[in-house]
Amino acid sequence: MKNVLVVDCCIRRQGRTRELMEAFIAALPEHCVVTRLRLDEENLSCLTGAFFEAREALLAQGKLDHPRFRYAHQFAQAEEIVVAAPFWDLSFPALLKVYIEQISVDGITFHSAHGGLQGLCKARHLVYLTTRGGVYTGDPMEMGSRYMEAMHSFFGIKDYVCIAADAMDTSRYDGKALLREAKDKAAALARTF
Ligand SMILES: Cc1cc2nc3c(=O)[nH]c(=O)nc-3n(C[C@H](O)[C@H](O)[C@H](O)COP(=O)(O)O)c2cc1C
Repeated sequence: MKNVLVVDCCIRRQGRTRELMEAFIAALPEHCVVTRLRLDEENLSCLTGAFFEAREALLAQGKLDHPRFRYAHQFAQAEEIVVAAPFWDLSFPALLKVYIEQISVDGITFHSAHGGLQGLCKARHLVYLTTRGGVYTGDPMEMGSRYMEAMHSFFGIKDYVCIAADAMDTSRYDGKALLREAKDKAAALARTF
């Protein structure tokens, strides 16, 4: 059995990013046990005010078993991680950043020591699935996949793979064909898990 965490930040219920994510999940072998985390159903809060102060106090007391750190433990323990999010404002929806705030916990997903940072996550891959209105693959203005790639190193996850469907909203390209191509790539990768 392999435990696969799917972090669903697709936002649109019937969108292209969700279609890409479902193609990936459907192709996973039988030995994969999928946990879907729908971020829009988790009622996540960003780190401000008393919510932030309470977190700092728990960390100072070393209370890493507090329920509010459950997302960080879940992320750290997953054997494979898939994150699906559309390309918004050159990166991804703020909801995903709020989730990243929840999972970035010193002592659970990473460790800061005198020699620098060390990732503590078990996952073999961080797979990032996204669809974009324009064409941004390889463009320095693209900061969604590039950010997630940096986070995979931060968390100590071995491999990073981004599968993107570009040009979803431009008539200069065949968006349907590009989405189909991305879904095929996603399914092919999922079959290797
Ligand atoms: C709030 C919002 C922001 C967006 N920002 C960008 C952007 O910066 N660049 C871009 O190329 N497309 C942008 N798009 C278009 C989406 O990336 C594109 O339509 C994508 O396929 C949406 O995925 P979905 O069908 O899963 O919702 C944006 C769309 C929305 C709704």
